[in-house]
Parts: sequence; structure tokens; C-alpha cells
Amino acid sequence: MPTVTAPASPHILAPAEISAIRADFPLLDREVNGRRLVYLDSGATSQNPRAVIAAEREYYENENSAVHRGAHTLAALATERFEDARATVARFVGAAEDEIVWTSNATEALNLVAYAIGNATAGRGGVDAERFRLTPGDEILVTEMEHHANLIPWQELAARTGAVLRFIPVADDGTLRMDEAARLVNSRTRVLAFTHVSNVLGVINPVAELVALARSVGALTVLDACQSAPHLPLDLSALGVDFAAFSGHKMLGPTGIGVLFGRSELLNALPPFLTGGSMITTVTMESAEYLPSPHRFEAGTQRVSQAIALASAVDYLERVGIDRIAAHETALGQRLVTGLAAIPGVTVLGPGVGRERVGLASFDVTGVHSHDIGQFLDDRGIAVRVGHHCAQPLHRRLGMTSSTRASAYLYTTEDEVDEFLDALSAAITFFGVSA
Ligand SMILES: Cc1ncc(COP(=O)(O)O)c(C=O)c1O
Repeated sequence: MPTVTAPASPHILAPAEISAIRADFPLLDREVNGRRLVYLDSGATSQNPRAVIAAEREYYENENSAVHRGAHTLAALATERFEDARATVARFVGAAEDEIVWTSNATEALNLVAYAIGNATAGRGGVDAERFRLTPGDEILVTEMEHHANLIPWQELAARTGAVLRFIPVADDGTLRMDEAARLVNSRTRVLAFTHVSNVLGVINPVAELVALARSVGALTVLDACQSAPHLPLDLSALGVDFAAFSGHKMLGPTGIGVLFGRSELLNALPPFLTGGSMITTVTMESAEYLPSPHRFEAGTQRVSQAIALASAVDYLERVGIDRIAAHETALGQRLVTGLAAIPGVTVLGPGVGRERVGLASFDVTGVHSHDIGQFLDDRGIAVRVGHHCAQPLHRRLGMTSSTRASAYLYTTEDEVDEFLDALSAAITFFGVSA
């Protein structure tokens, strides 16, 4: 069991508490290139506490069995654990259990929605699915700051259906052009897909306003919650989104598990994406009838150990307190941008010092490729993300092909941020480009 117990009142994680948290993460103890690891790449993948690693191992040692299939004791036990995990994740994001569909990752969850809408458009799903059918000239609206996972599935859906893909542009300060959003949403808009938090800019988009715009024309909303579910209190029902997606590996969970949230009324009207075992009621040689949500979207043998381990990750986040984690990361995010802005030659992408942003910061160093920065930092044991962060159109909009990103989580310390900032200054001196 993790050693962390949240103190009664403080809003921010105290150094002693962070030390206790860090002691739960075995990987944070390791060295890289002869230096103590400074892990600033949690935006890509977070590290796992012992409890999560143990949950997966214990499942294989004691309960491993096929869920929703067997009549034996182990099968019943595994099914119960699997469904309990769903209930835990549902509660964490303000959803009902039948609104949570397991997928392999957020990418699969977003593809599931796009493909299911495509299936409805192809005539599948009967009268229930009519509401999802697209006709040529209908519009799918995304934003210019989307991760490729919430862009390419919509490009493909548009190509298959004759719908038109449009995008809400990003302002120079990295915020979404809400004036343009209001102009672009119209009676032909059928889907509005957008990220809650940008994985590059750190900006938090105004979900309520975007949902209100979509609702005013009867469009579906699809929220990419990959960078919010792990870091911010999230109540999907209160936000009023129709669908949302996030990944376990970014929130202390294992790889191989993701979540699709959908309002139950919609999930039960949507035709399936993958078909096969475990998602049917009756099958003849000619046709099949499908179970209600969530099982109609969970064809084949499921990711049981991963779901159980993700629930353990959620337990961990809740023990520390997601609101306190958010406050800690906001403070680290401000420390990052303040420090970066003070280094000559460094341009921070997205909102500047004092503006609302999460605990990550991407930046460009004039005259130095992000891969060189990443390599220099790695030599000092500091792990950051370099490249286009799966957001090529956004980088093109910002006039660059790549950037460097430092991202924090609940186990990140102020000292680590400072060590990173010092190393970045040293890199700029090393590459001889400081102003
Ligand atoms: C904003 C955002 N959306 C989607 C994804 C895709 O997540 P996954 O690769 O786990 O499917 C990521 C991961 O980097 C992300 O940051």
C-alpha cells in the first residue's frame, strides 16, 4: 500500500509529502547517465506507484481469468474486479458505470467514436442511429491545437462521409479564438471535437462555452481529456460533453488501457465499432444483436489487469487529492514559465507568466534544434519531450517544426524544475547561441 496520506487542510503538497509520494515510485530512484533521474516527461507517460504495479501482479497471481464468460469462481472474481474498476473510474470523472467503455488508449477511444459515426452514416444501427448520420456538406469542427489522435480520425471520417472538416484557429498567445469558434459553429456543424488541455501549450480550453456553442446547433461534443483527467478535477457530467477520451498511462496507470466516456443515451444508440465475442445478445448466421453499453463496445477478451491497475491508480490520485495535485502542478507550471521566460533566447509557447496554464511548458530555443536540447539534458539525467508532440499543424501555426516540453506531475519537485532550468541555461551557453 502507498505510504501517502493527505494532511487535513493544506492546499498544496508540502516537501515532506512529495518525498513520501516519491518513495512510492520505484523508477524515480534510478540514475540515468550517472545522474539522478529528473523525470519531466509525465505529459507523455507518467510513472507508476508500487500499488499500481502490485495490483497488476496480484491479479495475475490470484485472479487471472476471462471476464463475463465463465461460470467458475475465478471468472466471477475477475468479472467483479473488472466491473469494480469501471465503477471507480466512473466515479472519478463524474460518470455512470455504463458510460465508461474500456479501450486500449485514448487514440482508440477517439477512433471508436469516429468509426461508429461512420458506421451509422453507412446505415448501420437502425432508427436509433439516425441522429449520428452525416450527409455530404455536414461539418466536423476541431481546433488547431489538437493532438493528431483527435484530428486524423475526423479527417478520415470526413473523407468517408463527404463531411467537411473545419478548425478553430489558435491566437498568438496560444488560446483558442473563441470569436472564430462562434463564427464557425453553424447549422451544418454536427461534431465539435476539442482538447480540454493542450499537450503543447498547457492552455485550458473553455469547455462550458464550447459545449454551449455546440448545443445551440445540436452538434455532438467530443472532449480529449488526456491532459486533464490526470491533472485536474474532472466532472464530465457537469461539463455536459457527449463523449470524452483519456489514457491510463498518463494518470499513474499501466499502458494498454484507455477510457471512452459517452452519455449513456448516446452510447446505446451508437452502432458498434469492433464486433465479435462478448458484445452480443443473439447471433444467427446472417446477423447479430448487440448488448447495451458499455459491453457493445468491448468486443473480445478485455484488458482486465490493466483496468484493475488503473483503478488502483485512481485510488492513489484520490488519496493525495486531485485538487491538491492540480494546485501543486499549477505552481510548478508557473515556476517553469517564469524560469524559461527569464532565459535569453527561449520562447515559451502558449500563455505567459501569470496566465492560467497547467504544469507543463513547451518552448523554442532560437538557433538550437529541440533534439539537441533534449540530448544535452539527457546527458544530465533530465528527461523531457522533444519534437512536434503529435501536433504538427499547431507547430506549423507557431512557425516551427518542433519544440521541447517539460511536464510535471504530483511527484515533481521545485528543485527538479530549478535543476532543469539551470541545465537549459548551460545548454544555451554550450551551443553558443545566448543573446
Ligand atoms: C492531448 C492528447 N491527446 C491524445 C493523446 C493520445 O494518447 P494515447 O497515445 O495514450 O492514445 C495524447 C498523448 O500524448 C495527448 O497528449
